Amino acid sequence: MQVIELKSRNNRPRKASAQPDLIPVDHDAAASAKGGITRLENGLFITFEGGEGAGKTTQASRLADRLADLGIEVHNTREPGGTQLGEQIRTWVKRESDISTVAETLLFAAARAQLVSTVLKPKLSRGSVVIVDRFIDSTVAYQGYGRGMNIGQIETINQIATGGIVPDLTVFLNAEPEAILDRIQITGSLFNGSADTPRLRKGDSEDGRRFEREPISFHKKVREGYRQLSREGQRWSVIRADQAPHRVADAIWKRVRPLLVERGVDAELLTRKQGVQSGTGS
Ligand code: TMP
Repeated sequence: MQVIELKSRNNRPRKASAQPDLIPVDHDAAASAKGGITRLENGLFITFEGGEGAGKTTQASRLADRLADLGIEVHNTREPGGTQLGEQIRTWVKRESDISTVAETLLFAAARAQLVSTVLKPKLSRGSVVIVDRFIDSTVAYQGYGRGMNIGQIETINQIATGGIVPDLTVFLNAEPEAILDRIQITGSLFNGSADTPRLRKGDSEDGRRFEREPISFHKKVREGYRQLSREGQRWSVIRADQAPHRVADAIWKRVRPLLVERGVDAELLTRKQGVQSGTGS
C-alpha cells in the first residue's frame, strides 16, 4: 500500500505509518483502488444538521464518496446510530411514543457517548475524516428549542456524552419546514386548519416516524434553534437546502476543501481530482 506523506502543522513532512487496518470501514474499495490512503493531522470532524428531509444523509454520503475518491480516509456515520447500541436506541426513540423529554434526551446522549468513545475518538486520532449525520446540535434544536427542555442542562449532558469534542465544521442545511415536510411527502393538503399536525402519506407506517409526525410548530422551533446556534460561530456553514443537490454539494465542498489543505492535504491533488469529478457531472 502506498503511503502518502502528510505535512504536519510545523510544515515538516510526516510519514503516515502503514498499518493493515487503516482502510476506512465505509470506503474500503474506493480508497484501495486509488493505491494509497491519505490521513490528516488530528483528523477532521464534520457534522450535518437540519430538519427532517433536508437532504443531510444524501449530502453526507456525497461528501464521503468524494473524499474516498480522492483517497482520503473517511468514515461516514449517523446519530443516533453508528454502533450496535446506537442503532438499537435509534429504533427505540424513532418509534416509541410514550417517552418523556428527559428520557429521550438521555437516550440520544447514551447513543452519542458510545459513538464518541468507540468510533469518533479512535478514528479522529488516527487521522480519518469523520462525518456524522446529526450530533450535539440536534439535541439542542430538537429537545431544547423543539420540546422546551432547559438548554443549559442539554449542554451539560452533551459535554458529558462527548467529553468536549466539538466538530471542526457543522453544515446546517436550512429550509422552510413546510418545504422540507413537503419534500418527504407528508404535507400537501395535510396541514389542516388550526390543528397543524401533518398526517402521514397513505401507506406510511406510524412506526419510526415519531419526529416527522410532530406539528409544524415543532419543526419551526427546531429550525429557529438551528438558526440561533448557527450564529454562534465559525464552525457553522449555513447552506440553503432548497437548491439542486449538486449545488448544495458544491457549497459544502467550498467549506471542506480549505480545511483539508490546512490539515496537510496537497491542494493540487484536490484541484486535479475535483476537475476530474466535475467532468463526470457529479
Ligand atoms: P434522522 O437521522 O433520520 O433524521 O432521525 C433521527 C431523528 O431523531 C430526527 O427526527 C431527529 C431526532 N433527534 C433528536 O430529536 N435529538 C437528537 O439529539 C438526535 C441525534 C436526533
